[in-house]
Amino acid sequence: MKFLHLALVRLLALAVAAFTVNSFAADSPREHLSLDANWKFHMGDDWPGALHLDKAGASTGPASEKFSDQAWRSVDLPHDWAIELPFDKSADTSHGFKPVGPGFLKNSIGWYRRTFDLPAEDSNKRIWLQFDGVFRDTTLWVNGWLVTRHEGGYYPFRADITDIAHFGGKNTITVKVDATKFEGWFYEGAGIYRHVWLDKTAPVAIAPDGIFVYSQFKNNVPSDKAKINIEARLLNTLTNAVKATVKCEILSPDGTLVAKDDETGNLDDSTAQTLKLDTSVSSPVLWSPESPKLYKLVTTVSVAGQIVDRKETEFGIRTVAFDANKGYLLNGQPYELKGTCNHQDMAGVGAALPDALQYFRIAKLKEFGDNALRTSHNPPTPELLEACDHLGMIVMDESRLLGSDAQNLQKWDDQIRRDRNHASVGLWSVANEEFSVQTTPQGGNVARTMQKYVKTLDPTRPVTYAAPQGDTFDGINGVIEVRGWNYHVGKDMDNYHAKHPNQPEVGTEQASTVSTRGIYANDKQRGYVSAYDVNFPSWASTSERWWSYFADRPWLSGGFVWTGFDYRGEPTPYAWPCINSHFGILDVCGFPKDNFYYYQSWWTTNIVLHLLPHWNWPGKEGQEIRVDALSNCGEVELFLNGESLGKQTMNRNSKLSWQVKYAPGTLSAKGYNNGQLVAEQKIETTGDAVAIQLTPNRSSINADGEDVTLFTVSAADAQGRAVPVAQNMIHFDLAGEGKILGVGNGDPSCHEPDTFIPNMPVHTIAVNNWHWKLAPVPVKGASVPEYATDLDDSAWNTIKPKTDGDTGDMFLQEGQTAVYRAHVQLTEDDLKNPGIAVRFSTIDDHGWVFVNNVRVGESRDWSAEPLFDIKKQLHAGDNVIAVGVRNESGTGGLNPDVNVEITGDPVAAPWSRSLFNGLAQVIVQSTKTAGQINLTATADGLTPATATVTTIASPGRPSVP
Ligand code: GAL
Repeated sequence: MKFLHLALVRLLALAVAAFTVNSFAADSPREHLSLDANWKFHMGDDWPGALHLDKAGASTGPASEKFSDQAWRSVDLPHDWAIELPFDKSADTSHGFKPVGPGFLKNSIGWYRRTFDLPAEDSNKRIWLQFDGVFRDTTLWVNGWLVTRHEGGYYPFRADITDIAHFGGKNTITVKVDATKFEGWFYEGAGIYRHVWLDKTAPVAIAPDGIFVYSQFKNNVPSDKAKINIEARLLNTLTNAVKATVKCEILSPDGTLVAKDDETGNLDDSTAQTLKLDTSVSSPVLWSPESPKLYKLVTTVSVAGQIVDRKETEFGIRTVAFDANKGYLLNGQPYELKGTCNHQDMAGVGAALPDALQYFRIAKLKEFGDNALRTSHNPPTPELLEACDHLGMIVMDESRLLGSDAQNLQKWDDQIRRDRNHASVGLWSVANEEFSVQTTPQGGNVARTMQKYVKTLDPTRPVTYAAPQGDTFDGINGVIEVRGWNYHVGKDMDNYHAKHPNQPEVGTEQASTVSTRGIYANDKQRGYVSAYDVNFPSWASTSERWWSYFADRPWLSGGFVWTGFDYRGEPTPYAWPCINSHFGILDVCGFPKDNFYYYQSWWTTNIVLHLLPHWNWPGKEGQEIRVDALSNCGEVELFLNGESLGKQTMNRNSKLSWQVKYAPGTLSAKGYNNGQLVAEQKIETTGDAVAIQLTPNRSSINADGEDVTLFTVSAADAQGRAVPVAQNMIHFDLAGEGKILGVGNGDPSCHEPDTFIPNMPVHTIAVNNWHWKLAPVPVKGASVPEYATDLDDSAWNTIKPKTDGDTGDMFLQEGQTAVYRAHVQLTEDDLKNPGIAVRFSTIDDHGWVFVNNVRVGESRDWSAEPLFDIKKQLHAGDNVIAVGVRNESGTGGLNPDVNVEITGDPVAAPWSRSLFNGLAQVIVQSTKTAGQINLTATADGLTPATATVTTIASPGRPSVP
């Protein structure tokens, strides 16, 4: 509904075009603050009863404001605790053998806590918490109040916490993350693995994800004037209606104000309403992967002449479409999608990528000519889209699940509203391979509903479905705008196209070629596949096969390779000891495999000439070795030790091979175009490794506590040549203003840890000699005389000490109550530790725990192993633990297997990683202090190396202290 008059100031736009706007942010009450730093973390299902649904604000354990998290580990977000766990052969293959998820309850519940202050002056603002993604189910409390329960590992969620905030005081956030269930069939991580934000706004403000800006051209073909449509959704949380003015200003990629408009309307009380504006931009600079130029929309909201909100939104001016004959159209021209599908994890960090790694990964993909990315099989983190906007990459933005139920549609709505301003997003995908329903009428209905839903929120982008069927039109394929093809290269595609010539098509998922970096023969035992372009599962193909087929058929629009990067899990064609996939063009660190050069040859205009394998084959002298040249040169001539092995002519989208009798020395090649020498390449047989080489990808980074540099670790022979087969174990030591986030080497079967987290030693004291007697115990947990510290309980009943396999005596009959008491001796030194807790193995059914006559908590679940923080109640010498127990049914009581757990100060662990075929990687993050990072690498028998990276003073993003 358009209920406002348009303010007609569009014509002014040109007149003000020369005016450059410098700063827009300062005078708005909006604050968008990072809440990533300084969390406390504890892994374990230790407070299963923390959530109380009976009374408001009554949640217990870590959910209570009073809880002490001193003994918990300090972590910064994003954080993935699954990466920290050791590999376990009994764990799920497709998730990469990490003992988390179904069957691993103890490792699958994580607790996060964080406090922050809110100044009293904020009491007239709205306060929001926003989570960009948590794996998987979340219970969120603030100040002891249950705020929300969110299901699903890939969607953002937020909450307005204004009502329960303490203004002028301390606020406590508690997050319970339950990763006991999987969603995908690939590594998914565990924990708060994306950013968390604290937003403050005025009571009248732009709604979350409330801005939508898009450009339109006549006939969807760029011309010299782009119409710019803007929708601003405003929230009025006041109890009275207000008149609000929205002003929009558009800055060109060079920062010049090129258009503006405004609109005024009445906003009803306590509601959200949308104001629509439009303007135009003349001679627009178009966005494309090759020229990713971004405009900026600045939206200002005023009430009674006062600015109440201001927001900047980047967007691109461009058109996207599909044509059934010409394929994908970008800015009106056929544009072949040379894409890759990618999961979100990386070596060293799992699913928790700092933003700099998103940029690193997109830049790596672009190196081999990748211009499109599919966020398989879930919505991405917003920073991935930002990287794609800025570096130039077309995104196929995929939902996690097909579904038109209210919950799924709400998630779809959230995804589209959040992502639709991104220039990079060029295609929506309703789902991937929904085998059970895809050919049914119901599957078709649901896809149609999701597709229709897109059109209500985004009139600009097409919709597809990643379909694994062949020549099938039933169900989803029959209703979807763009037919997606997962595999089936060959006659199925041609037949389908002949039958449905008006439906555009795209290769949503192709290749699934498997290869291991630096390996040239399959090795099932160790879990390696040859890096020649020869291995693929039954449904898949080589790189050459799928690409040469697609490249010849413009109507297919190009497609997306499964995958750009290796990822954890899905170790096809193997299983244990393989823990990650082999599908990548790049390994899990981003080191290129040989197929990288196949794609680079045919996806870029660079002159490419690459030879494989390496030339270190001692013992194979005289034996034939296959040598491939990956190149886009018209002819390639190969030489061994200066002697020509023949010149061959390259076919388009192909590669060349020779059989060469191995002799150590130099294998070299010359590439010719039209008889002209245009490229030369050589590979030498190296000597043994004698020295470490350490090379950062960036020699200076921002000192903002977030930026990242990646050190490539290699080993050189006496002549300084990188040794492609080196496997040395390397140790790392970091000094200065940085911290190591993780290490990797791309070996799909390596079980070395990716992270070395500080160890917090736990020392356990058994609490023995329990005495008990029947006594009334108030169900509200008030104190009774039997809890007193100085009471003589020597004449009470005793419980026999627990033996292995014995749960102890359970004497209480149904409805009986009793008090149990025991003593524990602690020293002054014990009390100096950061954490002291008492853990019970069973309190059956209901228990109230007192230490030195102070209540420390309550247990309501006989199957729990409750843990209570007791540090504050203890003193040196004798301490009394007393537990009131009520048995509800069957027999019950207290299991005397009770322990005091003393957690010591964290001890840093030394970092190391072995080289895999000559390479390893160290991911280092800056601190907030400018200075230097010195990384030193040492190894037995090798000369050590030190590399230095400078960290430059940077304000960083606004954050909560
Ligand atoms: C596809 C699937 C992907 C991945 C791939 C491996 O069918 O969509 O998620 O499993 O197979 O080849």
